[in-house]
Amino acid sequence: MSLTTTPAPWRRAVVTGGAGFLGSHLCERLLDSGVEVDCVDNLLSGSEDNIAPMADRPGFRFVRCDVSSGSVAGELSGPYDLVLHFACPASPADYLRHPLETMDVGSLGTRNALKIALRDDARFLFASTSEVYGDPLVHPQREDYWGNVNPVGPRSVYDESKRFAEALVTAYVGTKKLNAGIVRMFNTYGPRMRAHDGRAVPTFVCQALAGEPVTVAGDGSQTRSLCYVDDTVDGVLLVAASKAVRPVNIGGGDEATVLDIARRVIALTGSGSRLTFIERPTDDPERRRPDTTLARELLGWEPKVAWEEGIKRTIAHFSALPETASRVSRL
Ligand SMILES: NC(=O)c1ccc[n+]([C@@H]2O[C@H](COP(=O)([O-])OP(=O)(O)OC[C@H]3O[C@@H](n4cnc5c(N)ncnc54)[C@H](O)[C@@H]3O)[C@@H](O)[C@H]2O)c1
Repeated sequence: MSLTTTPAPWRRAVVTGGAGFLGSHLCERLLDSGVEVDCVDNLLSGSEDNIAPMADRPGFRFVRCDVSSGSVAGELSGPYDLVLHFACPASPADYLRHPLETMDVGSLGTRNALKIALRDDARFLFASTSEVYGDPLVHPQREDYWGNVNPVGPRSVYDESKRFAEALVTAYVGTKKLNAGIVRMFNTYGPRMRAHDGRAVPTFVCQALAGEPVTVAGDGSQTRSLCYVDDTVDGVLLVAASKAVRPVNIGGGDEATVLDIARRVIALTGSGSRLTFIERPTDDPERRRPDTTLARELLGWEPKVAWEEGIKRTIAHFSALPETASRVSRL
């Protein structure tokens, strides 16, 4: 099922974090399928550039506000039949720079978004993450694994706010009978990531395009399973359209070491960049791969975009950005 070709089951949606990387793709896909979209964002880690392509489209509205603030419900009069709560800095560089805002958006922001869904009797979907599994002791990670998170480590502001938010959503389902789901996304990449947000793919692509050394954390033996943004958006909207109230993993199946990812990026950009090794962040997970059996059996979802295709589209995006284009080396 593709929600760009099938009429969507919603009339009006609100997307918190809609000016971010994933949120902007979700807004666009919903608009494409005929849904009116209110995009809510305080631009903490997002950008109006991401929503510029839809700014003048009928049915699209940008509301600049903080979803953690008590006044947000007044800004969003609705009524909505879908609430996608995606607001939260997602790159470690961003959430380490904004630790308290990150905890607020997971707690107060989630509560405010849940209240809007309850008010309007809307389907609610929470953007959770593979980070709830922490540095996992079970591999691959299934939804029934409880995780291995250091509650006082530097990453805990993100991991624990997401875990708290999952508990809050579950409490709303249990006590208020809210129709609410949780999607646990694994590392996603693609156009509209910021060049310098610190995540591996944009960092490697921009360094390779500029002919600069590509910086691999540690010895690069840690693994990640990357998923192209279009596939993640498909998965998110399928979870949203389902009645699932338990968490569903959405992520790529191609587990690769970070060193291998860096080498693949260098090869696909045709860059002469060399590899260089930098200190590994504290509590950086050793292995990451989703078990997506539930998404496949429940929703028929599987990632479709091959790595080479996804990374080529991502390279094209970064090559066209003025900030990177000026640094692209003559290869
Ligand atoms: N990109 C991934 O690989 C990935 C993986 C797992 C989960 N997620 C989750 O998906 C969501 C989106 O991630 P992303 O990669 O697009 O990150 P992003 O930083 O590009 O987008 C997050 C957006 O939320 C906005 N925001 C933050 N706090 C806010 C607040 N209090 N009020 C209003 N807006 C606020 C930011 O300005 C930004 O536009 C996040 O919740 C993240 O935890 C992302």
